[in-house]
Amino acid sequence: MTKKLYIKTYGCQMNVYDTERMVDVMAHEGYTTTDKPDDADLIVLNTCHIREKAAEKVYSDIGRLRVMKQKQAKKGSKETILAVGGCVAQAEGAEIQRRMPVVDMVFGPQTYHRLPDMARRAHELKKQGEHPRIVDTDLSVSEKFAALSQKTVTPKKTAFLTIQEGCDKFCTYCVVPYTRGGEFSRSFEDVMKDAGKLNDAGVLEVTLLGQNVNAYHGMSAGGKEWSLARLIRHLADVTDFKRIRYTTSHPGDMTDELIAIHGEIEQCMPYLHLPVQSGSDKIVKAMNRHHTIASYLKTIEDIRKVRPDIALSGDFIVGFPGESDADFEETMKLVREVNYAQAYSFMYSERPGTPAAAWEDQVESHVKSERLAELQEELNRQQRAFNELSVGKVMPVLLERTGKQAGQLVGRSPYMQAVHVDFGNGETAAQNFGKLVDMKIISAGPRSLKGEFTT
Ligand code: 5AD
Ligand code: SF4
Repeated sequence: MTKKLYIKTYGCQMNVYDTERMVDVMAHEGYTTTDKPDDADLIVLNTCHIREKAAEKVYSDIGRLRVMKQKQAKKGSKETILAVGGCVAQAEGAEIQRRMPVVDMVFGPQTYHRLPDMARRAHELKKQGEHPRIVDTDLSVSEKFAALSQKTVTPKKTAFLTIQEGCDKFCTYCVVPYTRGGEFSRSFEDVMKDAGKLNDAGVLEVTLLGQNVNAYHGMSAGGKEWSLARLIRHLADVTDFKRIRYTTSHPGDMTDELIAIHGEIEQCMPYLHLPVQSGSDKIVKAMNRHHTIASYLKTIEDIRKVRPDIALSGDFIVGFPGESDADFEETMKLVREVNYAQAYSFMYSERPGTPAAAWEDQVESHVKSERLAELQEELNRQQRAFNELSVGKVMPVLLERTGKQAGQLVGRSPYMQAVHVDFGNGETAAQNFGKLVDMKIISAGPRSLKGEFTT
C-alpha cells in the first residue's frame, strides 16, 4: 500500500537538495508525496538552525502539527509519524522531544540514508501503542552520499548537485561546522555519476552545491585531486549542460584557477555569490573569516578583469559583537565600492555553542535593526539599478517554471535575475517551457525583469 510523505523544507539550497534525496529514498519504500500534512503517514520537517528565527519557526510549526495530531486522535483516523530532521535536529537532538513530546523522530543531516529504516521502526512502535522516540544525530558523512546518490531525476531543466558538505572554517558566529560537521568532498566519480544522470535527463542548468563549494577537493580513483575549477572545466567538456553555477563560495578559496574559468568557459555563468559579512577588517578578523577586506576587493577586481559583466552577490551580518558605528560605516563603504547585483543581509543572531554568542560586547537590538534598514536600503537600490541596466538588452532565459497568470512563464537570466514572460496564450507558453530562449528585457522591477520574444 502506498504511504504518504509530507516534507517541509526550511533554509538553504542544501536542504532543498536533501529534501529531494529524501523523497527519492522514500519513493523506494512506497511513499508518494503530499502537500497536505493531514493526509501524511510521515511528516518530515527539514530544518535550519542558522539564525534564531529559522529555528523558532520549527517549534511553532510543531505546535500547529500537535493540534492536528490531537484532532486525528479524537477522530480515530490515522496516526502520523512526526519527524524533525536537518540542522535543528542535529543541534538540539533529544532536547526537541523533551520540549515537544509529540515529535516521534529526530535525525540529523548526515543520517538521511537511514530514514527508511527509522520510519519502519517508528510505524512498528506506533502499531504496538508505543511512542517511538527515535534519535539519530550521527555526524559521519561518508556513507550518506553513496546511499543517496541521484535515484530519480525530476523532469526539471535545472538541478542542484551537492558536491561538498560541511565546513572547517569555524566562523565565530556560525553553527554550520557543528550541525553539518567537518568539510567533506564527494569523490570525482560519485559526482560524475550524478552529473551523468542529470545530463541524460536533459538538465540544462546545474548548480554545484556546498557550504564551502570552492574548497572542493574530491579525489578520483586514480588518486588525483580535483579542484572545483577542474571539475567545472570537465563538466563543461563532457556534458551538454548549457549553464554551470556554484554556491556558496568562501573568499579565501577563490583561487586564480577558479577566477580564470569565468573568463574561459562559456557555460560558467556570470554570477558569483561571495559573502564577505562585514566591511571592517576588525570585524572580519573577529569573525575568523581568514581574509581581509583588501584581499576580498582584489578577488573582485581580478574576476571583473576576466568577466567584466559578472553579477556579484553577497551575505552581510550587521551588529556582530563589537561592531561600532565606524565598523558599520566601513560595511556601507565596501557595499558602495563593490556595487552588488543582489545580496542577503541579516542581523547577527546569537547561536548557542558558537564562540561569539558568549562574548560580552553584544550590540543592542535597536542598533542592529537600524543598521540593517540602512544597509538594505542601499542593497535594494543597487539591485534596482542593476536590473534597470538590463532593460533593452537581449539575454538567454531558461524558462523553468509557470508564472502566477495563465500563459506566463518565469525563468532566470544568466545573472540569476527572475524574468517573467507573458506569452499571451497557454499553448505558446507550453511550447517554450523548459527551454533556453533569447528574450528582450522590456522592463525592470526591484526583484525581477519582464521579457518578450525578440523579433
Ligand atoms: N547570525 C546572523 N547571520 C548568520 N549567518 C550565519 N550565521 C549567522 C548568525 N549567527 C548568515 C551569514 C551566512 C549566511 C548563510 O547566513 O551571512 O553567510
Ligand atoms: Fe559558516 Fe563560516 Fe563555514 Fe560559511 S565559512 S559555513 S559562515 S563557518
